[in-house]
Amino acid sequence: MRGVAAARARVAPTAAERRAKESVAAEVLSLVRAEVAGSPHAKGAELGGSYAKGTWLAGADIDVFVVFEASVPAARLESESRRIGFASMRRHRPYVRYASHPYVEAAIRGTKVNVVPCYDVRAGEWKSAADRSRFHTRHMAGALTPQMRDDVRVLKRLLQSNGLYGAELAREALSGYACEVLVAHHGSLEAAVRALARAPRGHVIGRADGPQSTPLAIMDPVDPARNLALAISPANIGRLVMLCRAVEAGALPLSPARARPDAEILRSTVTARFFARPRAPETIWGQAKSAASALAARLGEGGFGVMRHGAHVDARSRVTLAFVLESMAAPRWSVGVGPDHFDAANAARFVEANARRSPLVWVGQDSRLRAARRRGYSTAANLLRDALSRGLAASGVPAGLRRDIRAGVVVRAGVRASELRLVEAISDIVATDARALGGRR
Ligand code: CTP
Ligand code: MG
Repeated sequence: MRGVAAARARVAPTAAERRAKESVAAEVLSLVRAEVAGSPHAKGAELGGSYAKGTWLAGADIDVFVVFEASVPAARLESESRRIGFASMRRHRPYVRYASHPYVEAAIRGTKVNVVPCYDVRAGEWKSAADRSRFHTRHMAGALTPQMRDDVRVLKRLLQSNGLYGAELAREALSGYACEVLVAHHGSLEAAVRALARAPRGHVIGRADGPQSTPLAIMDPVDPARNLALAISPANIGRLVMLCRAVEAGALPLSPARARPDAEILRSTVTARFFARPRAPETIWGQAKSAASALAARLGEGGFGVMRHGAHVDARSRVTLAFVLESMAAPRWSVGVGPDHFDAANAARFVEANARRSPLVWVGQDSRLRAARRRGYSTAANLLRDALSRGLAASGVPAGLRRDIRAGVVVRAGVRASELRLVEAISDIVATDARALGGRR
């Protein structure tokens, strides 16, 4: 595979970067341990994540786990780890972030530091989502050779550059841990790439305790009940496999180079934007994505062919829902297809139901009844505006967003290339993937 050896050297942190990270790690660990020492509930603190595993890239965070006895109630764990996080980081302007449970984050000399609570449990007896993490650290300490650690770094950089890094809902792609699992399981980046490039549908990487629902499964070696690919959207599994084929064929796109969206595609895109009340990003992202799916279904029923849809939430929790349409205008009529006329009872019911509301009812050459129906909306923007105002309760938009939408939503047909921020927000759905999929243009 071309360029992999050179890339290993390129992504490895420099001596200066290592020294800087080590000094931050040592400082944060001693700060947190000083607070843990005075805590009646916490029993220890340790470094985890990619720093502890030696798979970090220059910009990565440092994860510190505060360990609690399994008997400590969840509310206590939360409040006490928050206190420890704030007290230890007090000189570094700490703030709360939300994953499956809240944790404290701060930045020390440019490196983000996470203080995350977890329980001291036996493997398999997980009480909180972060409990597996210490097992991941221990497992990878034995499973990864120095060369594999550099391979993990190259894989992370490759995925970052192609929008495939991160298991959060904003990305729905691979976690850092999934990268480690792929390299450790296959023994090298090249072997992992080859395996993914050839994987048949349903392929399972690792040991699973039963059949898996994802098109490709990546099992957690410390928990055969956990499929890491559940966090990856089926579309991103496809992009991963195609990217691996491109790498095998000699490409190694390690710097981001997203194609500029086509102007005509932008003109065919309708958007709805509003601000969500600040809440955990995962919550807003989840609701925004489900709102986009519900509204895409409404647009489809309205006769506007939806090619692609998606959602974006920015740092100020501004939500953008976007729909790339076959057409901004819908045909005036749709045809309702009814039962076979030999099916007497249903045929009568169909005619009865349509006689008054349809101006054209007939029997088709295939023996089925039909009725012409006038469409409710001639433009996609009008349909969306109605669905987001008087039709909101029946729109399928999650209840958690309705108040935010009622407070003000802007629906617009067509996006201009000069609207840089908007184009950036929707680039995932309007920019072609051809490069990552192996195409040359
Ligand atoms: N983790 C996980 N699943 C996730 C996110 C995190 O199992 N979806 C666990 C892993 O054990 C991981 C640790 O939490 O090592 C820290 O998470 P994070 O900082 O997101 O990942 P890193 O592996 O540290 O990768 P990065 O270099 O991007 O920080
Ligand atoms: Mg990390």
